[in-house]
Amino acid sequence: MATILRDWSYRYQWFYDNISRLAALSVGGEARFRQLALQRLTIDSDTQILDLCCGSGQATQFLVKLSQNVIGLDASPFSLQRARQNVPLASYVEAFAEEMPFADNLFDVVHTSVALHEMQPQQLRKIIYEVYRVLKPGGVFTLVDFHTPTNPIFWLGVSVFLLLFETQTAWELLKTDLPGLLAKTGFKVSKPTLYAGGSLQVIQAKK
Ligand SMILES: C[S@@+](CC[C@H](N)C(=O)[O-])C[C@H]1O[C@@H](n2cnc3c(N)ncnc32)[C@H](O)[C@@H]1O
Repeated sequence: MATILRDWSYRYQWFYDNISRLAALSVGGEARFRQLALQRLTIDSDTQILDLCCGSGQATQFLVKLSQNVIGLDASPFSLQRARQNVPLASYVEAFAEEMPFADNLFDVVHTSVALHEMQPQQLRKIIYEVYRVLKPGGVFTLVDFHTPTNPIFWLGVSVFLLLFETQTAWELLKTDLPGLLAKTGFKVSKPTLYAGGSLQVIQAKK
């Protein structure tokens, strides 16, 4: 599935960013969208934050305003090159999220936005395990991603978006019990907070 628009969104940053901004209108705009997963977290300038699957730094730019210890990780050297230019205040690591080159118990917060829907089910389980490993005891995994809309009016928008820009893994995520997977790994999981007619979920899970 997906269309040429998916390739364009990864090839041209202006295209990705404008589509993101457009989609973020459903929650009141991009600035609000980028704050959703950060609500209720205690973050100061020393907090060790990992922005997992950071892309070109779209969320990293907000994280560096809160802490001076932000690392962005992504598998795409192309995206990381852009992130280094866009958000030079963070450090970056090229790696797969399912095999992170970090010691155990390193981060206070692992943040990931709109990336888990790109993972195959087995990969997703490995990533959750890895996040648990690299978090300090008491550290928090906070994520924002797609969710099955609870308001039927939002079904059309989500379906069109997924058909144009996403692959089968995004549809799979809608059927995935993320809180259940997190709890199985050992996290204490909050009930997902839903936005945009239920089409977006924020989950915060504590190690
Ligand atoms: C939709 S983008 C999200 C970018 C950014 N977090 C945001 O909020 O806009 C998903 C990112 O996940 C990265 N990615 C996909 N699979 C990955 C993996 N297995 N390990 C690390 N990064 C991965 C892609 O390279 C891409 O930059």
